Amino acid sequence: MSLLDKIQARAGHEPPETAASAAAGAAEPEEAARQAKPKKDLLTAFRHIRGHDAKAKAHSAPLSKHQELKNKLHKQILNDLKDEPVENILPKIDAMAVQIIQEDESLRGKVDRKKAVEELIHELTGYGPINPLLLDEEISEVMVNGPHQVYVERGGRLELTHVQFRDDEHVMNIIDKIVSPIGRRVDESSPMVDARLPDGSRVNVIIPPLSLKGPSITIRKFSKDPFTIDDLIGFGTLTRDMAIFLEACVKARLNIFVSGGTGSGKTTTLNVLSSFIPSDERIVTIEDAAELQLWQEHVVSLESRPPNIEGRGAVTIRDLVRNSLRMRPERIVIGEVRGGEALDMLQAMNTGHDGSLATGHSNSPRDMIARLETMVLMAGIELPVKAIREQIAGAVDLIIQQSRLRDGSRKITNITEVQGMEGDVIVLQDIFSFRQTGVDEAGRIAGKLVPTGVRPRFYERLETSGIHIPASVFIEEEG
Ligand SMILES: Nc1ncnc2c1ncn2[C@@H]1O[C@H](COP(=O)(O)OP(=O)(O)OP(=O)(O)O)[C@@H](O)[C@H]1O
Ligand SMILES: [Mg+2]
Repeated sequence: MSLLDKIQARAGHEPPETAASAAAGAAEPEEAARQAKPKKDLLTAFRHIRGHDAKAKAHSAPLSKHQELKNKLHKQILNDLKDEPVENILPKIDAMAVQIIQEDESLRGKVDRKKAVEELIHELTGYGPINPLLLDEEISEVMVNGPHQVYVERGGRLELTHVQFRDDEHVMNIIDKIVSPIGRRVDESSPMVDARLPDGSRVNVIIPPLSLKGPSITIRKFSKDPFTIDDLIGFGTLTRDMAIFLEACVKARLNIFVSGGTGSGKTTTLNVLSSFIPSDERIVTIEDAAELQLWQEHVVSLESRPPNIEGRGAVTIRDLVRNSLRMRPERIVIGEVRGGEALDMLQAMNTGHDGSLATGHSNSPRDMIARLETMVLMAGIELPVKAIREQIAGAVDLIIQQSRLRDGSRKITNITEVQGMEGDVIVLQDIFSFRQTGVDEAGRIAGKLVPTGVRPRFYERLETSGIHIPASVFIEEEG
């Protein structure tokens, strides 16, 4: 039972029947399918890496003993085990290493066998030096800035790791391994590519000469276990009362925008908000890279497409938004609005497709409105500013502002109602906001998320949808 349902039940309202089935279970089979890694071509990829190794060797200094052991192992695997499936090879590698060291006196006592075997397994089954980082569940993001600098985000904070690649070419091999299975290529003619790992993690690649430090990879890891509203409450991203309020807003079909900077947790919050959509409604999601993970069954997920090498065949978010309107959606969820699609989205929201959710990049609710104005202009249709503002004020009901604070935590800093127009100006009213009180010894931002005491104007609309929120939600607790 969700928080809102509990409250409703306590107040003698019947919980909507969908809620119980909602809590019953997230979609597992699909999840498992997503996680499944392709097994077939690993050895081919491995051979490929080996080929590059040989080339790299030609113009590098004498090999370290460590590298020598790895190369010998490499060679032996390719000679002796080339027809075996990878799962059979893995358990044999260590024994092979023992034998090689026994036979070669110069290696004895000079190498860390375990480390060499481990690294080799990572090259064989995964993404080389960064593979352990990808497997580490505590790490949410991996950033390769050229061969000699790899950062990760762990628990909201950035950390420099000891992981290194040999050289640019080594990074390029891994990039190849990431992008070639999905039919993309990274080279001088297309030096920037967005891709996805088989587990759904989002990847961006950019190489020299555009990237000066060497080939760079940024990976936002797919969370197998997406955060729930309870997680976000636990992290202090929002309070229980705010959660109850947001759940009510989604159920009452308000149009909601999640606004925030890069990596502030917009998509995560959008995912959590979407989880409040009743399961009997048809949902169409639209994203650049499918990141949303909805538990509902009746979901159609659409993904945009970049142009091909000849510059043709692109399908933009805007195209998808327009198409989605002909798909009889009851809810449209847009991953990120950044251009002309804003106009189509606002029009849709104003013409019966209420209950839509979207995110946008901006620093405050007021800024989000200004950006929406600019985005509407990007649609290329001449509209007077006042008309644009009227569209925005009529369409958007609520803006949720999210921030990544300096201490790495994510907070919803404002929940703001778009009340309407006064003259030429859109009137915004905070319903909840973050009040910073200082910084504690550990560098963590101290403060409180509090209701402003103002009841939203759409309160009546909530009541008429049969959703009752206790008035105490809008009043700050003592102490
Ligand atoms: N409330 C939260 N508390 C702690 N960590 C969070 C929270 N929300 C998201 N994260 C983590 O922060 C990272 C970024 O989250 P998310 O992808 O939702 O951000 P975003 O604003 O959509 O980013 P982008 O602008 O790159 O699309 C993820 O690793 C996620 O696990
Ligand atoms: Mg996002």
